Amino acid sequence: MGEKLKVGVIGCGGMAANHVASYLVCGRFEVVGLADLSAQAMADFDGRFGNREGYRPKRYMDALAMIDAEELDVVSIGTWHKGHARWTIAAAARRPKAILCEKPMAEDLGHAEQMLVACRRNGVKLAIGHQRRFLPSYVAVRDLIASGAVGRVELVRAVSGAGLLNWASHLFDMFRYILGDADCEWAMGTVERSTERYERSTRIEDRAVCAFGFEGGAEGMLLSDFTPDYYQGCTVYGDAGMIDMRPEYYRLMNEDTGGRWETRTPGGKYFQPEAEGFEYREGGALQAEELADWVEGKRGTHRGEATHGYKAVEMACAIYDSARLHEVVRLPLQTRAYPLDLMVESGHLPVRYPGRYDIRAGNLRGENMGSDEENR
Ligand SMILES: NC(=O)c1ccc[n+]([C@@H]2O[C@H](COP(=O)([O-])OP(=O)(O)OC[C@H]3O[C@@H](n4cnc5c(N)ncnc54)[C@H](O)[C@@H]3O)[C@@H](O)[C@H]2O)c1
Repeated sequence: MGEKLKVGVIGCGGMAANHVASYLVCGRFEVVGLADLSAQAMADFDGRFGNREGYRPKRYMDALAMIDAEELDVVSIGTWHKGHARWTIAAAARRPKAILCEKPMAEDLGHAEQMLVACRRNGVKLAIGHQRRFLPSYVAVRDLIASGAVGRVELVRAVSGAGLLNWASHLFDMFRYILGDADCEWAMGTVERSTERYERSTRIEDRAVCAFGFEGGAEGMLLSDFTPDYYQGCTVYGDAGMIDMRPEYYRLMNEDTGGRWETRTPGGKYFQPEAEGFEYREGGALQAEELADWVEGKRGTHRGEATHGYKAVEMACAIYDSARLHEVVRLPLQTRAYPLDLMVESGHLPVRYPGRYDIRAGNLRGENMGSDEENR
């Protein structure tokens, strides 16, 4: 094996810890820098990874100082959403080989577009952390659909919660992924927001109903915050069978299974589906491995390449824009601003029960009640 790729991490919280764990498990990276406004966050990483091979980071309280000082091959971005564009653009200007930024790619399409421009301008590869694209059940279902195992897909249905840009962005990406990365052609949605609900400093709705049409004719339906027991996965309704897909397994019903549900649990490469946190650990390790292959020129693209992350943000924003305009929205979406902000700030979607709260405030440290971007 050649030299390891040198990684610096910006924002050392929960999901960035999964990036680091994944880099170390896949064994092709060396973590050489950590940047966080919280010394404690970085100390926690040392406590968790300190004795692992490939982990020898310098710590920085200023992320710019880290990307200026270290010769990084890869920058990992694990701040809250509003930091994604800022840090991707700053990192791209310093020309690492690749950036892995967490989902949602950005809080609106304008910022996501700037991230694409910055990375193209500087010749930097950009991937977004929709790591479930790598799960064996997702890959198997994508292959089954492509092989015609359920006939023509009529509908893919999913349930979500905690914000369209947040939890549902993975599901929007999943719709496209299992349909062979089919583009979304239209979206129509309705949104309820009577409280001042935020998620990681981004306005979110209380409830949403989303309908999509994809190239090839399949439709997508997603209900958000109607039930407490939402999950990553979906039900696929074809004209010759059905699939019920979860991160750890899938169930198939078609002529070959005698019209009965048959459960299949494909194994992982690094972890097995019974392992705790399988969808993060296995998805993250394979996401890291493919990033190394992409950087080293062993493959031409990455499954999580940023245009897919862009399209997941676009689907979320298309639902909000449809609610704002009271019409079906055709993609590509023209509105670059975050349509939910537009609706609230114009008085179009009045708050009935005032008082701002953030459903991820529990992630913050010390006396912070908002993200760094808001506090500055
Ligand atoms: N792919 C997934 O399945 C998945 C799961 C969870 C979270 N996420 C995403 O990961 C991102 C981070 O979420 P989290 O739950 O890990 O957050 P977190 O609150 O646990 O961590 C964020 C970290 O960023 C640091 N930070 C904030 N501003 C900074 C700055 N200017 N410079 C350096 N560090 C800064 C904070 O101090 C904190 O340590 C979010 O965008 C979220 O949507 C993705």
